[in-house]
Amino acid sequence: MSTDVCIAPTADDVGRCAARLVLRLALDAVGCRGRCTLALSGGRSPMTTYAHLAQAPEMPWPHVHLFWSDERCVPPEHPDSNFGAAAAVLLSRAPVRPEQVHRIRGEADAAAEAVRYEGVLRRLVRGNPPRLDVILLGLGEDGHTASLFPGSPVLDERKRCVVAVDPPPGVAHRRITFTLPLIGAGRIVVFIVTGASKAEAVSRTLVGRERALPAGQVMAACRRATWVLDEAAARDLDDALREQGRMAWVRQTRRAV
Ligand code: 6PG
Repeated sequence: MSTDVCIAPTADDVGRCAARLVLRLALDAVGCRGRCTLALSGGRSPMTTYAHLAQAPEMPWPHVHLFWSDERCVPPEHPDSNFGAAAAVLLSRAPVRPEQVHRIRGEADAAAEAVRYEGVLRRLVRGNPPRLDVILLGLGEDGHTASLFPGSPVLDERKRCVVAVDPPPGVAHRRITFTLPLIGAGRIVVFIVTGASKAEAVSRTLVGRERALPAGQVMAACRRATWVLDEAAARDLDDALREQGRMAWVRQTRRAV
């Protein structure tokens, strides 16, 4: 498994960097396989990435199929909807046809929708589990990612690709989420993480390689991962990794797409 780290100065620079990375990955996928299957992350962190992607003229949108790595069990117009957030920032601006957008229906019965969505993935994406080209993920302060929370029994799921999740105390809404087998089958996982509040979870995952954290289990399961961090989220990494990440930022600012 290979891991890359890119450390950008600010959260907006993270959005720019992550958007350029997704653009390169999408162009590679379309060049190799004629299309790109891209799973978007929920939460606030990827919003600037989506805004930059929406303005990327080189993005091969006619060949991109969009999925979500998790969703809150709310209707799409609900302020907490991951689809709704991406629709406002990305789908409303990028030339993506409706038939290329495969949202998780948060308004549906969660258990039934998890089964339906897994069927959509298995129908549209080759592989068993389906092998998505790019999976974007965020990171919670407790080390959760997608809607895989610490201590959750769904972390032990080894057959199903999409499941319904009862939230832990303090987390709003039931969720529907990718499982570790599906995330691990992806060609690349891209973590987009900003802010000092995430620094400990980033360090425990990247340096400590703690398998108690769901993000640590994703790192153990996936083939290739890139972390796009701002300086604040990278604060607790060791000097060598931070230097590596800063050099990666400098290189990508000089690189054409
Ligand atoms: C969700 C996300 C979740 C998110 C992290 C970070 O639906 O909430 O998928 O895993 O990525 O909680 O959220 P922020 O980016 O808002 O900090």
